[in-house]
Parts: sequence; C-alpha cells; structure tokens
Amino acid sequence: MTDIAGSSPVSEMFTADFRRDPYPTYARLRESGAACPVTAPHGFPAYVVTRYEDARAALADPRLSKDMYGAWEAYVAIFGDSSVHLDDNMINSDGAKHTRLRRLVNLAFTPRRVEALRPRVQAITDELLDRIAPGVPVDLMAAFGFPLPITVICELLGVPEADRADVQRWSATVAHTGFDEESTRAQQEAEGKLHEFLVDLIARKRAERGDDLLGSLVSARDDDRLDERELVSSAWLLLFAGHETTGNLIGNSVFHLLQRPDRLAELRARPELLPQAVEELLRFDGPAENATFRYATEELRIGDQVIPRGALVQIAIAAANRDPARFPDPDTVDFGRNNSGHLGFGHGAHYCLGASLARMEAQIALATLFARFPGIQLAVPPEQVPWLGVEIPAFRGLAELPVL
Ligand code: HEM
Repeated sequence: MTDIAGSSPVSEMFTADFRRDPYPTYARLRESGAACPVTAPHGFPAYVVTRYEDARAALADPRLSKDMYGAWEAYVAIFGDSSVHLDDNMINSDGAKHTRLRRLVNLAFTPRRVEALRPRVQAITDELLDRIAPGVPVDLMAAFGFPLPITVICELLGVPEADRADVQRWSATVAHTGFDEESTRAQQEAEGKLHEFLVDLIARKRAERGDDLLGSLVSARDDDRLDERELVSSAWLLLFAGHETTGNLIGNSVFHLLQRPDRLAELRARPELLPQAVEELLRFDGPAENATFRYATEELRIGDQVIPRGALVQIAIAAANRDPARFPDPDTVDFGRNNSGHLGFGHGAHYCLGASLARMEAQIALATLFARFPGIQLAVPPEQVPWLGVEIPAFRGLAELPVL
C-alpha cells in the first residue's frame, strides 16, 4: 500500500517529469498496489488503478459510474462549477441514457461508414502536406497533426471552415489548462464561447436542415429523442473527442518512430504492417491514456484495496498498457507482438465510438507523411520536444513537434 503523504510513486504524479515520462512512476505504482490513493491537482481524493486486469475490469464495472452529474462534488472538483454545461453527453452517462445518446450517432461511425470517408481523409492529408516544405523546420502538430482530424470531424459534423480555428483554440484551452485560478477563468471563458458558438450553429442547422451529423442530431432533438442541453453537449463531445486525441496519436506516433529508425524502415518496407503498427503505438504511448474517471456508487474492492462509496477511481490506461503481466517487454515498440486487448480506446460500454475513424486517420497520416518526406527528422533533441501541460492528466500529447 502506498502512503499518500510520504515519498511514494504517487507523490511523483502530476509533476513536469511525470508528464515527460510517466512510465517509470506507473511501473512503481503497479507494483505498490492494485488501487493507490492519490490527491490529484483538482484536490478531490481518488484511487489510481494501474494494473491491466484491474483496469480492464474497472472500465466495464457497472458499480463505477460515468454519470458525473450524479457525483456533483467530484464533478465540480474536476470540471469546475460553471453555469455552462457541455458535459451532458454519452461519455458522462450510464445505462439507458448512455445507450440512447450513443445510438443517435453510432451509425455515423461504423467501420463501413468510416471506410467511405477514406478518399476524403486522404485528400485532406495531401492538401495539408502540400503546404509543408521538406527540410524546412515546422511544428508538425500545428501544421498537420491537429488540422487533419479537426478538418475531418468538422466536415462530418458540418462546422463551417471559417469557424474551425476558433473551435480548435477554445478546445485546446478547455483541454490543456491547469487548476489555478487564472487557468480556471480562461477555461470557463473558452467553454462559454464554445457554448455560444454551438447554440448559434444549432440554430443555423435548424433553419437549413443539412444532411451532416449535426443536422441529424438536431432532427433527433426535434423528435424529442434528446433535450437541448444533451444536444449541445453531444455536439461538443464529438467535436472535441474527434480531434484532440487523434491529433495526439499522430504526434506521439511520429515522435516515437523518428527515434526508432529500425521500426520506421520496417514500416516503409512492409506497408501491410501499418494497422498493426498503429495499434502498437496506441498501446505504447497513446493519447487518451493517463486518466479516465469513474466514481464508486457503492463500496467495492479493487485487488486488496477497498474503494469507499463516492470515491473517484482514476483508471490509468497508459499504465495498464505497459503492464508486463499482459504485454511482455512492454517498453519496447514491437509491430510483431500480440497487442490485442490493449486499452487505448477503452473497454466496455464506453469503448471509443470513433475508434475506426481514428485508426483510419492515423494510418493515412503516417503512411503519407513518411512516403512524402523520406528525410524527415526531429529538428531538436527528443528531450527538448515539449509535452502538454503538467497538471491535466487526461491527455498525453506533444505541445509542439518540431521536425525538418
Ligand atoms: C470514448 C480514446 C478518437 C469519440 C473514448 C474512450 C477512450 C477513447 C479511451 C473511453 C473513455 C472512457 O471509458 O472513459 C480515443 C483515442 C482516439 C479517439 C485514443 C484517437 C486516437 C476518437 C474520435 C472520435 C471519438 C476520432 C470521433 C467522434 C469518442 C466518443 C466516446 C469516446 C464519443 C464516448 C463513448 C461512450 O461514452 O460511449 N475514446 N478516442 N474518439 N470516444 Fe474516443
């Protein structure tokens, strides 16, 4: 068992070193207990789960709720007490409500529907890469990693081109700020702007009745299958989840491949390995990795740890995906390994809705980038490439990726 106050792996969490490389800490946490008590920067006590079998079970455990509105104190600690509600959507609900909200958009993300988007995703990829000159330093996150998924999800939803830069900026503020007063204010302001923008966009969709995804959600709203707050929150979830994670997967993958010329050469020589390579990079250092929260609706046990009713449980997907009990030699990138069952897209009822889309985007992005830029390399030593902020543990991604 880990001591919260003393020197322990838990005390290393949420530091700049941890953001750069959380894996040594996660290895020690896995060894120290099945669920370790932590006090995260939001100040709410939580238990962090790091072993693969425990994490997989916790992700699908109905006693661990995603309905953050049902745990108001915890909700406010994490998301703030804002008058704007953008979180009343499937990822924050359980049971019948979750099924209802997910079903409304599920069809748009089936592997077949996603496959039909392939030519368009390829065309967007080509257009973005046309603007990058080989050998000239560029921040690949700003020039390619984020613009690709944001363009794809905005086209799917029907967000006009003129608004996309604002949406991306506000989303980044919501996702990447800390818990101090100034950050909270910036975050609430960005949420307010996003809310205003979405309400206005929905009004326009209502008048126009387009055939995009947001248009079909508006029709569902008007048929009474979801309420106005759920409509705005669902639009926000799709917009946000549709680009923030995929952008980071592309960034993390390029970063790790550029440091492993043997793996990159393998991929170039055998393009059929691409799907397996993307799965392995998701397992090895995927984006949605550090914390997905649930709260206990009743007292339960994880391993030898009793989790009291009402406690937050933080499932560290990153730690689970490097558990040597499930993935031998877990710190090695190996395209030949059996990585099925990795938790990079979650598990259970909340398994990522956009997994097929994310996989396709990442495969096209990596294949096209490395084919078109055979000499691509990091523009600075890897230790100087900045990772995202030190406090928010939810996403693992690069703030910038300087390449030439
Ligand atoms: C859920 C990861 C891309 C939409 C999730 C969850 C994970 C995840 C781990 C489960 C969260 C939990 O159980 O608490 C990722 C990763 C992505 C990615 C690593 C990219 C590499 C996308 C894309 C979309 C998307 C492109 C497009 C719309 C969603 C939605 C949920 C979700 C709507 C909630 C599902 C539910 O609650 O039933 N994602 N995601 N994701 N993801 Fe993704």
